[in-house]
Amino acid sequence: MTRMDFKQQLEKYVNIINEYLDRCVTEKELPEKNLYSAMRYSLMAGGKRLRPVLALAVCDMLGGDLEEVLPFACAVEMIHTYSLIHDDLPAMDNDDFRRGRPTNHKVYGEALAILAGDGLLNLAFETMLESIIKSGANEKKARAAAIIAKASGANGMISGQVIDLESEGKQVDTEILNRMHRLKTGALIKAPVVAAGVLCGACEEDIKRLDEFSEYLGLAFQIKDDILDVEGNTEKLGKKVGSDADNNKSTYVTIYGLQKSKEILSDVTNKAVHCLEKFEKNADFLRSLAVYLLEREN
Ligand code: IPE
Ligand code: IPE
Ligand code: MG
Ligand code: MG
Ligand code: MG
Repeated sequence: MTRMDFKQQLEKYVNIINEYLDRCVTEKELPEKNLYSAMRYSLMAGGKRLRPVLALAVCDMLGGDLEEVLPFACAVEMIHTYSLIHDDLPAMDNDDFRRGRPTNHKVYGEALAILAGDGLLNLAFETMLESIIKSGANEKKARAAAIIAKASGANGMISGQVIDLESEGKQVDTEILNRMHRLKTGALIKAPVVAAGVLCGACEEDIKRLDEFSEYLGLAFQIKDDILDVEGNTEKLGKKVGSDADNNKSTYVTIYGLQKSKEILSDVTNKAVHCLEKFEKNADFLRSLAVYLLEREN
């Protein structure tokens, strides 16, 4: 797949996702209209949409129906966006910029930022449940929703965030570091990949391949995020460089150093790509995506 074809396909997916998300949260002329406005502010600020893109790409690879996967893909993006709003709060990473604009709490205040995050989290479940109900309590859809629920909660992202906060100012061992990355970031990258596999009726062996692929990809993604926090560019990133150092975070860079982190990043990316071998040329987009993430500047 050429770079051009990859970029076009990526843009196509992002457009489908943005159109769907745009319809999910609308401004309302209600006394509580600020809530909807705060939810939209972060959701429509234009992130990379990596998680829903992964779900749609897996669906295409398996020959599934994008329309069936879309509500689940976008539900993960809602949950991810909520996690970012809360991650930026003064009680957590205390960041002022996100997705190229002031953070949610900087514009709407802390209380509304917390509630906008809660609103997005619940909207994700509403979106998935409506899709399940519409298709007559479809079992695959229920399983996909359960996978996403588990990855978002105490068995996934939330526990990772707890480890992240409790590791501030400490020299954690690599086991804790990897557990933190697997939970805080890996879980919400794996969920859309595996959920899309389930929705498209993939066999157990293929689900296992997708599981391993996304395990490596999720780890690679957070290693790169740690590297970018040190040597990225604030303008390009849309968030502040040096936030981890300000908060004395434990990261791949603090534990391994920059050079070694880059080596591990490229090794883990290769491992991710290797997991897709069986899918042959149907996995071309996902392979290109893994390489694109390795080289990304935002
Ligand atoms: C940032 O995620 C938080 C991490 C888990 C590293 P992204 O880098 O995917 O952020 P957006 O969605 O593109 O803004
Ligand atoms: C974020 O990790 C993980 C979640 C939001 C769940 P970071 O705190 O490193 O993410 P950024 O760097 O602020 O985007
Ligand atoms: Mg954080
Ligand atoms: Mg942060
Ligand atoms: Mg970070």
